[in-house]
Amino acid sequence: MTDSISPLPAADCAICPRLADYRRDNAGAHSDWFNAPVPCFGDPQGQLLIVGLAPGVTGANRTGRPFTGDWAGDLLYETLAKFGFSSGRYDRHIGDGLRLQNCMITNAVRCVPPQNKPTGPEINNCRPFLRARIDSLPRVKAILSLGRISHESVLRSLNVKLKDHAFAHGAVHDINGLALYDSYHCSRYNTNTRRLTVAMFEQVFATIRDDLAIA
Ligand code: URA
Repeated sequence: MTDSISPLPAADCAICPRLADYRRDNAGAHSDWFNAPVPCFGDPQGQLLIVGLAPGVTGANRTGRPFTGDWAGDLLYETLAKFGFSSGRYDRHIGDGLRLQNCMITNAVRCVPPQNKPTGPEINNCRPFLRARIDSLPRVKAILSLGRISHESVLRSLNVKLKDHAFAHGAVHDINGLALYDSYHCSRYNTNTRRLTVAMFEQVFATIRDDLAIA
């Protein structure tokens, strides 16, 4: 268990100088945006934790809720609703009244990175917050990693060797009783190039829903 670290970095977290500078730049240009480490969203008693990459600049960094306000969120929240992991209607802002059921969403990196690309040290710096989040969920049985960076950061959080669990879309890894599911990230790029189709993404959620129902 991680007992000394909060799952939420301080609003003025300065551990990653490049990300703190970028947050400040965005705050200067858009003082009405959130512009801080984005907290997790969802059910603290949930069995499923979804781990994305990092906030999008005009998505979660603007609205203050993971995946809220950008294309990736449109697909993710629609899919969560379809598979029974939410109630209410997603509407691209934090006041939409949406509630997640049996699931929580976080990111491997909590601050928006320039060009959507966190560096290795930034991913490492943010990992204690990811580990603290995993540790804080008393009923967690499944983690869904969206993309390889999330997958590798989750494995490192769980002190598991990367070489024993290669990332592959649709793969399910047993990590000492915790199931780690992999999906390609639901980014606009991946869906536009059809690396990830809606059917592929839904299949991952169908598997998770069925596995949780029988566990
Ligand atoms: N928004 C997020 O919060 N995370 C992602 O990985 C992508 C978009």
